[in-house]
Amino acid sequence: MAIEQTLSIIKPDAVEKNRIGDIYSRLEKVGLRIVGAKMMHLTRQQAERFYAIHRGRPYYKNLINFMTSGPVMIQVLEGENAIGHYRKLMGNTLPKEAAPGTIRRDFAFDPADPESHHNAVHGSDSAETARAEIDFFFRPDEILSRSDELCNIAG
Ligand code: PPS
Repeated sequence: MAIEQTLSIIKPDAVEKNRIGDIYSRLEKVGLRIVGAKMMHLTRQQAERFYAIHRGRPYYKNLINFMTSGPVMIQVLEGENAIGHYRKLMGNTLPKEAAPGTIRRDFAFDPADPESHHNAVHGSDSAETARAEIDFFFRPDEILSRSDELCNIAG
């Protein structure tokens, strides 16, 4: 299976709940490696550019308000089949529909607010998106590949 890189964001709700370490632990337990990381408080302009593909959707304004409501922790993950592997680990977009054991169910589901889309994490949905999303937040020298395979590709 191929070694891939993907972009992960720990969203403002999970940062506020102090769950960064718990989420990192889930990633590392399944063999994903963090090869770049930064904490940011996104400006509206940054969030609007990052989520530009969703502009015009009914949830767009809520999404931008949420993603700019506090600091986020952004990381590049590397590992075998990292894109699909991480998406499985995140679970369904809506925490109430995410399976127990997934990050979104375990760290974002709130029985008092079951329809909430405050879902703890973001992950790239394809190889093309992953490349664009990684480039959006990271310069090449901010990513320290820990895979021989990718190091060789990068030269
Ligand atoms: S789509 O149409 O399938 O692409 O939409 P979906 O994957 O369900 O959602 C895209 C992103 O929008 C977020 N979202 C919301 N955020 C806040 N409030 C509301 N109401 C809301 N609805 C959808 C959803 O969590 C996805 O964010 P990311 O960061 O990509 O996971």
